[in-house]
Amino acid sequence: MTGVTFRNLSKSFGQHSVLDNINLDIPSGEFVVLVGPSGCGKSTLLRMLAGLEPISHGDLLIGGVRANDLPPQKRNIAMVFQSYALFPHLTAAENIGFGPKIRGEAAAAIDAKVKNAAAILNLHSYLDRYPRQLSGGQRQRVAMGRAIVREPSVFLFDEPLSNLDAQLRVQMRTEIKALHQRLKSTVVYVTHDQIEAMTMADRIVVMNQGKIQQVGAPLELYDRPANKFVASFIGSPSMSFVSGRLGAAGAYFETADGERLKLNGGRASAFAGAVEAGIRPEHFVISGTDAAMKLRIDVVEPTGSETHIYGAVGGEQVRAVFRDRVSVKPGETLPVTADPRNIHLFDKATGLPV
Ligand SMILES: Nc1ncnc2c1ncn2[C@@H]1O[C@H](COP(=O)(O)OP(=O)(O)OP(=O)(O)O)[C@@H](O)[C@H]1O
Ligand SMILES: [Mg+2]
Repeated sequence: MTGVTFRNLSKSFGQHSVLDNINLDIPSGEFVVLVGPSGCGKSTLLRMLAGLEPISHGDLLIGGVRANDLPPQKRNIAMVFQSYALFPHLTAAENIGFGPKIRGEAAAAIDAKVKNAAAILNLHSYLDRYPRQLSGGQRQRVAMGRAIVREPSVFLFDEPLSNLDAQLRVQMRTEIKALHQRLKSTVVYVTHDQIEAMTMADRIVVMNQGKIQQVGAPLELYDRPANKFVASFIGSPSMSFVSGRLGAAGAYFETADGERLKLNGGRASAFAGAVEAGIRPEHFVISGTDAAMKLRIDVVEPTGSETHIYGAVGGEQVRAVFRDRVSVKPGETLPVTADPRNIHLFDKATGLPV
């Protein structure tokens, strides 16, 4: 079993810095998911871990040993890419057994490894087929089979499900999670898909512009985002923000138009600057009292189980999701509020919590 540590790790391509002082400890057996917008450096970090990209500054430790200069084949790491990169002229079995074969292992040993991987991945009936005869999900499983036969101590996945349709993604998500529970190997998994991150990860690493923004368990990030970026990135549909100021020693939040939200006071009492109140769509509550904000409704989407409402509070776009059926029409206003515990306040200037 092998853990991974990034210590003050940085990466530049020429003058262009893409990763800046990354510090992260991944204990052995943990399933870590990296998320962040396109170009924030997720793949570069994985490629550095795999040994496919040189490290500019800092240290990479694999199993406690400095591995900056270790060649890829000595790292005991297997990587599964978004493009499965299977050999088209080899069957599924030959693709899975390709690594052991070029390492010169005996035919019987290769056969046993392929059968074992096929059993784990539920691929036995497809072993004789060529990649073109397989569905996307089956090809993805062959690619994983190829990683499994390496018996790596660390698995790296770079958006392995993004070519699959929605239903298959959900199925493969469960399969990868079950695979991790069975093999208990360390996994570093990159995705754009925030539901994938929330459901699969032991811990999520949120990145932006080459920097780690926050590391934590999925619900920790959802409940206590470290800044506005994490607050807006984690959660789907994402958090809405309304600008304003705090009043009466943090007893309420007020927009420029005088729309108010009651707070539980204290926590933000001294903050006099401009703030943004962040509320998740599922945390809006329809209120009958005066201490509510007016949500002017633009679009109403009934999904059956929920009602999604797009509208504006004091000129800023918000989205609310109610578990009930709400009979309102575009153009009307709805008085909304939120439990003070579900109102996230950020300093408008810095994006940090107040
Ligand atoms: N070989 C390279 N030479 C120069 N710049 C590069 C190279 N590889 C990546 N970059 C740049 O480094 C930054 C990070 O790229 P990276 O591929 O790690 O992003 P990513 O987070 O994986 O994005 P995506 O979600 O789109 O896959 C980008 O700005 C990219 O243009
Ligand atoms: Mg990438």
